[in-house]
Amino acid sequence: MFEALHHGVLGRALKNGLLQVRWWDVRDYADNKHRTIDDKPYGGGPGMVMMAKPLREAIRHIQAQRDKPNWVVYLSPQGTLLKQPGVVRLKEKLSTHNLVLLCGRYEGIDERLIMSMVDEECSIGDYVLSGGEFAAMVVIDAVARLLPGVLGDSTSAEADSFSSANKGLLEYPQYTRPEEDEGMRVPEVLLSGNHEAILRWRNRMALERTLKKRPDLLNSAQLSAEEKEILAELTGDENE
Ligand code: ADE
Repeated sequence: MFEALHHGVLGRALKNGLLQVRWWDVRDYADNKHRTIDDKPYGGGPGMVMMAKPLREAIRHIQAQRDKPNWVVYLSPQGTLLKQPGVVRLKEKLSTHNLVLLCGRYEGIDERLIMSMVDEECSIGDYVLSGGEFAAMVVIDAVARLLPGVLGDSTSAEADSFSSANKGLLEYPQYTRPEEDEGMRVPEVLLSGNHEAILRWRNRMALERTLKKRPDLLNSAQLSAEEKEILAELTGDENE
């Protein structure tokens, strides 16, 4: 499954050693010849539960191979919803810890493993995946692109939607050549060469888009007095 990581920006970063990703198969830590790692839930109910012991052995084995302490993140729909500040925090964790992304399957993991070995539980969205692997790849991708050298232009992650440099707003719209496409022209201001006017326009568009597409983000956006004024004006427009 993790073959997907070897493409594009992430693939290049792995090849250049800007980050390292390894994986361990929990079945290698099973204590029976059938390599069983799950069992029926106590109290009954559908599905199977992953046993604590093989997972604990795997996590301890990973720790024994590393000089930094583990930071174990269990990917689960019950975790804290991952947002950009959480991604930044995980990136910063990497300087002192190994991130161990624990991917569950089946109905879940024995609660005692979560209580004793997991440092945080992380969800990538309010929907249920059939396993944590895709969620782990989402985390790896989002964290990796913040690492120095992974994106060609070191400032491009800063301008992203949600980023703090972008004040927690969505990104402004982008255009490239040609100037006219199927009768639609690039906004004049972007051709003006007036950098101040361009900045103002982009800022306004970021506000307008966020108001239209993700108004919830405005509650926690860090806005200047001028931006609040623009927003009030835009909200006024909407109510007309
Ligand atoms: N595993 C299953 N569903 C998940 C989700 N939404 N986020 C993270 N891990 C998961």
